[in-house]
Amino acid sequence: MLEIENVSKRFGGLLAVSDVSTRIAAGRINAIIGPNGAGKTTFFNLISGMYRPTAGTIRLRGEDVTGLPADRMARLGVARTFQATALFEHATVLDNLIVGHRLRTRSGLWDVLLRTRRCRAEERLCREKARCALDFVGLEHIEERRAGDITQEQRKRVAIALALATEPELLLLDEPAGGVNPEETDGLAALIRKIANRGITVCLVEHKMRMIMSLADRITVLDHGEKIAEGTPDEIRTERAVIDAYLGSDHADVQ
Ligand SMILES: Nc1ncnc2c1ncn2[C@@H]1O[C@H](COP(=O)(O)OP(=O)(O)OP(=O)(O)O)[C@@H](O)[C@H]1O
Ligand SMILES: [Mg+2]
Repeated sequence: MLEIENVSKRFGGLLAVSDVSTRIAAGRINAIIGPNGAGKTTFFNLISGMYRPTAGTIRLRGEDVTGLPADRMARLGVARTFQATALFEHATVLDNLIVGHRLRTRSGLWDVLLRTRRCRAEERLCREKARCALDFVGLEHIEERRAGDITQEQRKRVAIALALATEPELLLLDEPAGGVNPEETDGLAALIRKIANRGITVCLVEHKMRMIMSLADRITVLDHGEKIAEGTPDEIRTERAVIDAYLGSDHADVQ
């Protein structure tokens, strides 16, 4: 699906991503792990077109997409969620979905503001799609609730629904279970599995090792911007470099 070759991103004197090569396999759940500041989010920003790489090549389905902006990448089927979920706090969950969908699909901002014919025609479809997305992520029961009043786990589900609105082929999830409790984490893992079962390729960044180990087909480990290991959960679990550099020798969580 996605081939990343010798990609680097430099911020002044800091090499946030350093000469990373990897592949994101279609139809799989790919995970990126690593300590805080390892370059995981920067790596996502490179793949989703938010940042242009300082060096290296990115190919999507064999086509060179290096340096394409985020809106082009979205149209090519790459969607993402952010580590912190920004919502319109005073609007309802459903309205967040409708506006989010509108901003991510054909009617541009001018259409939204001027309410053109195309926009009106899309409005009903939009509402139906928004409901459908909420149903898919298990939030249909809170569609009328104010976004500012929902739980962190529900926010994470809204973020996923928003990303799914563009009908992506590749979905990048930046800490989809960040700040949620263990039972809720299991629920989010089940949702990610359901997305993958629909044929959407998933790539996720997460710190929660139990979730990663049970979900991921393949794990890439970053440390100080460099790829230090890659493999199946079983391979990563026993990889000395990962235990030393990332988890620390007394970190039992990975086992
Ligand atoms: N826009 C930026 N400008 C300057 N430095 C940046 C920028 N974005 C990230 N960095 C730096 O690049 C490094 C990698 O950051 P990044 O956010 O990618 O890490 P991360 O692995 O996602 O960490 P976390 O687990 O805490 O989310 C950090 O040292 C960070 O301070
Ligand atoms: Mg991050």
